[in-house]
Amino acid sequence: MKEELKDKIGRNIDYLRFSITDRCNFRCFYCMPENTSFLPESELLTLDDIRFAVQIFKEIGFKRLRLTGGEPTLRSDLLEIVSIVSETFGSCAMTTNGSRLKELALELYSAGLREVNVSLDSIDSETFFRITRGGNLKEVLKGIDEAISVGIKVKLNTVITQMNFHEIPELVQYAEKLGVPIRFIEEMPIGKNNNRHFIPYKKVLELLHENDFIQIETRIGYGPARYYKTSRGTIVGFITAITHNFCNGCNKLRLSADGKLFPCLAYDYHVSLKGAIKSRRSDEVKKNIYNAISLKPLRHELLNRTQSNGMNRMGG
Ligand code: 5AD
Ligand code: SF4
Repeated sequence: MKEELKDKIGRNIDYLRFSITDRCNFRCFYCMPENTSFLPESELLTLDDIRFAVQIFKEIGFKRLRLTGGEPTLRSDLLEIVSIVSETFGSCAMTTNGSRLKELALELYSAGLREVNVSLDSIDSETFFRITRGGNLKEVLKGIDEAISVGIKVKLNTVITQMNFHEIPELVQYAEKLGVPIRFIEEMPIGKNNNRHFIPYKKVLELLHENDFIQIETRIGYGPARYYKTSRGTIVGFITAITHNFCNGCNKLRLSADGKLFPCLAYDYHVSLKGAIKSRRSDEVKKNIYNAISLKPLRHELLNRTQSNGMNRMGG
C-alpha cells in the first residue's frame, strides 16, 4: 500500500464509488424528492474525462471501482465506461435499480461487467411502485433474471423501512429461489430524507431468527456488510450504518458525475477534481485525491444532520 493512500488514522483508502450520473428514472422516497432537478449535461464528466480519471485512480493504487448513480444505465455511453473500467481494473461492478438490465445485461457482460447490486425493496408490485414512486417491479425482476442468466454475479439490496418490513421473509425467500445474496440496508438520513420510516437491523434479525440463522465471517465484496447464512445456505447481509458505526473499516472515496470527490457520504465537503481532469493535469488530480484522503473524517455523524446532498449525487 502506498503511503499516500493511508488516511490520518491509518485506513487504506483504495475503493472508489463513481456516480456517473445523478439522474434516475425512479424516485425512491429515501433517496430523492419527487420533484428534483438534475445537473445539466454540460456539467458532467465526459467519456474522455472518465477515461482519464479512471486511469489516474488505477495509477495511484486504487484496487476497486464501482459504478453507481443515480441510475448508471441512463448514461448512453455506459458500455464504453464499463469497458474502460474493466480494462483498467480487471473487472467492473455496478449498482443499479435494475430497470434496464433486461435489455442491457448481455452487452454489459460483453463490455466486462461481472457484478451488479440491484436494489429490490419489495416484491409486491404496488409497494414497489410506492417506494420507488413509479418503478415497475416486473421489469426489474426480469432484469435480475437476465443478469443472472448471462453470468453476471447479482446481489440484492433492500433498504429496510416501515413500508417493506413485513415483506422481509419473502424477500429472503426470493433471494433463496434465485440463489443470490441479499443485503438489508438501514435507512440513512441522507439529503432531504428525515428517516421517519427507519427500522433498526435488530428488528430484522429478530424477524428472521426463526429461520435458523448463523453468522459467518466471510467477506463478500469490498464493503462494510456483516453476513449471515440461512439454513438453506442463502447469504443475508446487513449494512448497519446507524446501529453500528463501521467507519473504522472505511476504504472509500466517492466521485460525483460532475467531478467532486467526497471523502465521506455523511458530509457535504469535497474536493473538486473537475478543472484538473478537464485540463488533463494528472499531477493536480493526484494531489487532490491525496488531499481528499487526508480529509476523511474519523466517523460519520449522520444523526446530527451533517449533510444535505441527495444519495443520487453522492453515489449510493
Ligand atoms: N439510506 C440507505 N440506503 C440508501 N440508498 C439510497 N438512499 C439511501 C438512504 N437514504 C441505497 C439504495 C441502493 C443504493 C444505491 O443506495 O437503495 O441500494
Ligand atoms: Fe434511483 Fe437508486 Fe435513488 Fe432509487 S435509490 S431513486 S433507484 S438512485
